[in-house]
Amino acid sequence: MTQPLRLRPPWDAPAPPPRALSPLEAEFAARLRPDADLVARVALAREHLVERATALAKELGVPLRKALVAGSSARETYLPGRLDLDFFLLFDPSLPREKLSESGLALAHRLLEAPERRYAEHPYARGRFEGFMVDAVPGYLVERSDAPISAVDRTPFHHAFLSEHLPPERRDDVRLLKRFLTSLGVYGAEVRTEGVSGYSTELLVVLLGSFPAVVKAAAGWWVPQRLCPEGPEPSVMADAALVLPDPVDPHRNVTSALSRRNLSVLILGAREYLARPRAEFFDPPAPPALTAEEMESRIRPRGSTLIVLLLDDPGKVPDILWPQMRKVERSSRELLERLGFTVLATSSATAGGRIAVLVETDRSELSPVRVHRGPPVGAREASHFLERWQSSPGVLRGPYVSDDGRLWVEIPQEPTGILPVTNAALSELSVGKDLREPLARSAGFVPLAEARGEPAALLALAELVDRRLPWVRWGVPHESAGKPVAAAPRGPAGA
Ligand code: CTP
Ligand code: MG
Repeated sequence: MTQPLRLRPPWDAPAPPPRALSPLEAEFAARLRPDADLVARVALAREHLVERATALAKELGVPLRKALVAGSSARETYLPGRLDLDFFLLFDPSLPREKLSESGLALAHRLLEAPERRYAEHPYARGRFEGFMVDAVPGYLVERSDAPISAVDRTPFHHAFLSEHLPPERRDDVRLLKRFLTSLGVYGAEVRTEGVSGYSTELLVVLLGSFPAVVKAAAGWWVPQRLCPEGPEPSVMADAALVLPDPVDPHRNVTSALSRRNLSVLILGAREYLARPRAEFFDPPAPPALTAEEMESRIRPRGSTLIVLLLDDPGKVPDILWPQMRKVERSSRELLERLGFTVLATSSATAGGRIAVLVETDRSELSPVRVHRGPPVGAREASHFLERWQSSPGVLRGPYVSDDGRLWVEIPQEPTGILPVTNAALSELSVGKDLREPLARSAGFVPLAEARGEPAALLALAELVDRRLPWVRWGVPHESAGKPVAAAPRGPAGA
């Protein structure tokens, strides 16, 4: 690590003065603080991990250049009950890529108790050490933080940056923010969550100065929101939600995992917290465990139709599986809408070795009238379309030019049931590579009633039935029931 870090905006500005915690926040800050005994045991485990790995590397003759515990356990910014030691085994860049995981895993397997192999961008090991769970991740020791070889090579730079810029007295703010984000369901950069990563949480506290300052700022954000108005812009995806340049690599957007939906939940949650700060934001009640009957009785009055696709879980890690499940949801919606149904909601879940994709539509059979959307009038096919339909005896209405500038025609169709038409078109469903096989082997969509014994279907149903903003589920606090919600996000509360 020889490259001196040149800080670019927004990181070159002096740290803003922190805002004081409210009594409520101070109470939870104290509850979330690890006790001295735990801090000491973590410090010792970190020391021993590094010593043991260094000695073992010599013994095994692997070119380990540095062993480092980074992440939240190295900075006391973990949440109680969610402590994992992130242990990085950094090798010389001359080690070929295919040898990297082999050497890293050989070390980890000697070091950890009950090691398990896991996969992210490359394999890593998870196991126990002195009573703690440890993720041992192989990577390369690189000189420049903006030229990593593997995805984890920026980690030592992240740790160095935060060690310098996050003062110990701001750790309370980080833990509060992690807990706040967790309560809103938007903490964690895994694909399944699409939330804010641990590292980003710490950076937000560094950038804005404190937990109250982050919440106050978030209440005034837009979607998408840039937090680097003056600096060089990281390259971002077209659907980026929050843009925050990595201080150690300004081209990288640290918050790229956060979805627009979750940023929106964060913004609204921050406004609600400023209007009605309450303990639930740091200690939310457990979501209700609805029985199948309760779910059913909530669904029945809607008069809608629920169908479910059950697929065998191909056993891939969540970060690979979840995007593919979301894709099946999206393409099922598209397929059903193409067939003329109105899709009210979709959801998906995995449990018991199965994946369930649930779709709720407005009706259970095709409409007797099919609206057939033709080409734009300027297209060559327009004349074929006219010839085909203008003197066709079966036409119910049209052809006519619709507001979208296309030729439309309305024709009768058999009001066939949703399952036969959908399943006949199942090959049009676009699915990711790990779900093609399971789809081919599946029975296609079935009525929800037939899938009640499937834990995955019940999970998907529970999410769909109880879909609402978290604090709406917690209920309106007594003392403010009936009072109007403060509209201005920049109110003085919580300051
Ligand atoms: N990291 C990384 N690339 C990833 C995931 C993680 O470089 N794809 C690094 C980051 O530098 C991060 C560290 O690994 O600081 C630990 O990641 P993680 O455990 O996800 O975050 P923590 O900051 O430890 O937060 P938490 O308290 O949730 O564990
Ligand atoms: Mg961690």
